[in-house]
Amino acid sequence: MTTSDTPTHDTAQVEALRERMIERLWAVNALRTQPVADAVRAIPRHVFAPEFPLEKVYDPKAVLKTKVDEDGQATSSVSATWIQTLMCERADIHSGMRVLEIGTGGYNAALISELVGPTGQVTSIDIDPEVTARARTLLAQAGYADRVNVVLGDAEHGHPDGAPFDRIIVTVAAADIPPAWTDQLVDGGRLVLPLRIRGFQRVYAFTHHTGGLLVGETGDHAGFVPMQGLGAPAPTIVPVTDAVSLTTDATPVPAPDLLPEVFAAPARDQLTGVRIGRNAYFGGLQMWLATTLPGFATLSGDADVLGEATMGVHQTPAVWTGTSLAYLLLPKVSTDPDQWEFLARGHGPDAAVLLTTLVEHVQRWDRDHRTGPGPRFLAHPDLPSDTTQVIRTRHTRFVALWDQRDTPQLDWEADPEK
Ligand SMILES: C[S@@+](CC[C@H](N)C(=O)[O-])C[C@H]1O[C@@H](n2cnc3c(N)ncnc32)[C@H](O)[C@@H]1O
Repeated sequence: MTTSDTPTHDTAQVEALRERMIERLWAVNALRTQPVADAVRAIPRHVFAPEFPLEKVYDPKAVLKTKVDEDGQATSSVSATWIQTLMCERADIHSGMRVLEIGTGGYNAALISELVGPTGQVTSIDIDPEVTARARTLLAQAGYADRVNVVLGDAEHGHPDGAPFDRIIVTVAAADIPPAWTDQLVDGGRLVLPLRIRGFQRVYAFTHHTGGLLVGETGDHAGFVPMQGLGAPAPTIVPVTDAVSLTTDATPVPAPDLLPEVFAAPARDQLTGVRIGRNAYFGGLQMWLATTLPGFATLSGDADVLGEATMGVHQTPAVWTGTSLAYLLLPKVSTDPDQWEFLARGHGPDAAVLLTTLVEHVQRWDRDHRTGPGPRFLAHPDLPSDTTQVIRTRHTRFVALWDQRDTPQLDWEADPEK
């Protein structure tokens, strides 16, 4: 179906489905304030996804894939309503604000437009001309033609012509924060984005402080499509076997040629004593290991090779030192079919030391952070790297703050070099 073939729908059915969706969004805490609920109620979501059945359009969990590449991977979509409303809530958008949306679909821009009202401004930028053309057509059909400025471009540069912005909402997975986004955000402004930290994607709401320091809160789990263009992720992937690879941000990778040999060497196992229910979420543990474990990497590949206990086929937390490898598995505990226990497996001459480190990290997460909100992040191009483990990307230094009492008192105003 093309965007010009707008099907007609029974208004009462649309309203009933939309009210049900709103109820569910409140129930799961993806709606928190009345203005965001009113925005959802005001917008005909089906106009932005004419090729999908109404039930799917108004299912708050459904991602509506509108474009896929030759491998069948989505490159554009109308995101699930729950993440759209949650990100609007996290962004704390008020009447009269100027907002930049990165990644266009139409519906989310309409939501933002409702929140900023007639005195605000919404710009939505997308790298794909088919996406911008479609969004312009659908926004016009829904009555938002004059309220959203759709721009074609690579978000790496932001949108200087519309800056400064009070809010920037990124709706495509970002592995970095390019300088343009911070430069184009007012002091005190918010940048809400799905950030990929060492392979793990979470939505953070960053506040812009004086001196370009960003402080990011929350960390909602998310699964946005990858960034294209200048900000496309470029992880280092090292083959381990035909079916398994190691992804790392260490450059150069220590002894990549040795990795297959070490992986094939006999394994040592050590149980952690930390158990988890069968379908329980352990994203907090992944983020804890990714931000605190020296030499952190992820193993991905065939579950048959890594074993059925793989923690998510694509992202098994691992450590590679150049001579030894350790990683975390999650086998069933035989005495209780609903309980699983994290198990560390190691290969190579330093396997015993790596296993001890990995097990201690898992136990510390269990003791101190299992029920916590996860880390806050500091982000800045030049964060000092003396005390804390710093995650470096092309443009940014990130520091995870796991202990809320341990917040470094950064004062960029006092920096004589500023
Ligand atoms: C999930 S979709 C956007 C969803 C949309 N905000 C909505 O209303 O639900 C992500 C979009 O990001 C776009 N994108 C990817 N890389 C980009 C880049 N570097 N600059 C701008 N847009 C980009 C894709 O073309 C895609 O349309």
